[in-house]
Amino acid sequence: MTTLRAAAAAALLAAATLTAPAAYAQTSPAAEQVQRPARFVGASTATTGVLVLPLASADQLDTRGAALNDSERTAVSNAIAAAAYEFSAGSRLALRGIGGWTQILLVGLGTDAEARTYERAGAVAGRALLNEDAAITIVTTGLDTDAVANFATGFGLGQYRSDLYHRREREPSALGQVTFVADASGEAERAYASRGRALIEAMAWTRDVSNEPANVLYPETFVSRARAAFGRTPGVNIQVLDVPAMRRLGMGAILGVGQGSARPPRMMIVSYRGQGAPTQPVVLVGKGITFDSGGISIKPNAGMANMRMDMSGAASVTGAVLALARSRAPVHVVAIAALAENMPDGAAIRPGDVLTAMNGMTIEIMSTDAEGRLVLADALSWTEANLDAAAIVDVATLTGAVGTALGDDYAGLFTRHDALGEQLEAAGAATGERLWRLPLDPSYASDTASTIADIKNSGEGGAGAGTGAHFIGEFVSRDTPWAHIDIAGVAWSGANDWKPAGSAGYGVRLLERFVRDFQPIEAEAAPAQ
Ligand code: BES
Ligand code: MN
Ligand code: ZN
Repeated sequence: MTTLRAAAAAALLAAATLTAPAAYAQTSPAAEQVQRPARFVGASTATTGVLVLPLASADQLDTRGAALNDSERTAVSNAIAAAAYEFSAGSRLALRGIGGWTQILLVGLGTDAEARTYERAGAVAGRALLNEDAAITIVTTGLDTDAVANFATGFGLGQYRSDLYHRREREPSALGQVTFVADASGEAERAYASRGRALIEAMAWTRDVSNEPANVLYPETFVSRARAAFGRTPGVNIQVLDVPAMRRLGMGAILGVGQGSARPPRMMIVSYRGQGAPTQPVVLVGKGITFDSGGISIKPNAGMANMRMDMSGAASVTGAVLALARSRAPVHVVAIAALAENMPDGAAIRPGDVLTAMNGMTIEIMSTDAEGRLVLADALSWTEANLDAAAIVDVATLTGAVGTALGDDYAGLFTRHDALGEQLEAAGAATGERLWRLPLDPSYASDTASTIADIKNSGEGGAGAGTGAHFIGEFVSRDTPWAHIDIAGVAWSGANDWKPAGSAGYGVRLLERFVRDFQPIEAEAAPAQ
């Protein structure tokens, strides 16, 4: 009863003291996100507790509803008719007072379900049963192995909670078990264990890190959280650049962003190489601004609290590698988290200042609030200097403008390499974390032309998301297959039927899929744009 509360208090208290940062990863209550134990069986004799029936039509009740006796099945049929329930994908109908069941939960699959339909339906069930104590039986008979594994994965994702600092009424270990009834239960369990479970854990890690307040989660504690999550996972190597190391390398851009904060910046490089994986890694670079006040170009107060999520790109690339490494995927991938806090103190950079990035490019600061592209400039320069990347994908909550253009339905995709863009779009379609390609027009170069330096960090109005993408692209060789994904519009949202308010963990599933399916990009005669 008291342990979680005490842990929450300890984390917040410790956070108030700048000199004692080391213990956060252990004391934050987020580390106690608990998964319901899941098991897979061929048949069930359950007659009580919660029964979950994924259904595409009323007919399926005859087979998938085998656990119901005749009178229960009649009651369910009557309820379906009375509610005019249509089984549309992602819908649900909760029925109580039938037989000995605590609840019978119907979840709709719609007519032509694909992988992400099952995952979404599972998430809807998981979220609907977040606080359910009773044992849960989920009947997935008649579905193929992948569909069962995807439903189970979705169920785990849907059980995520973002109320990290709510006092808990009870120990999470009191949660009942969840049992999946499936035709080929052994196969389904293996499919789930080889991928889904790692995805659930990695998504929870990413969402936790994004949701954590900035007094708990800052560059150093982001790193300690990552170290704790990767532990001794085989094939993983973590390298961290601190301020002296970044100074030696000439990373004036990220150092400039971090210099107005009491929390020093960090560059974290996590590499994972699975067995039989290629030599050239896919490199995922994430914007990791643990809080974006805007700096001297300070933001208005409205909405500023949400800027604790401005490290979501870094959280997602790290989470994607966590998912791949924990499931021992045969891939070679590197995540780079460019971590800094953007604050306005006496040491902070000013508009008009000039910074020099690691690759020697000089940057005139027009707005200290265009800080994400600065930390990415050094992360990409480091990548180009140190890694022979097969492709580089950067992920960033870069611009409000991308949200104005695409809302929370699509992240913005920018690339000079069509073949890379197509692979990313395919992964987006498969996972439901969709991308919409936007132009990298040559005219953006004049928007960022500076009289005093090589480039300036923002234009005046114009295509905000495109200008940011263009700036970042100036730190990558034209020959390197590179894409930029702006997730500012999709990373954070209110609660809905499948996720709680806060971080969406956007990018983890997309990048996990993309890296698994990655095909080397052929050199293009003339890269698009
Ligand atoms: N972190 C913000 C972008 C953002 C806005 C993320 C809303 C999530 C929700 C970024 O650092 C920023 O401040 N961008 C500026 C860029 C401008 C100064 C060129 C913006 O979008 O206004
Ligand atoms: Mn900003
Ligand atoms: Zn920002």
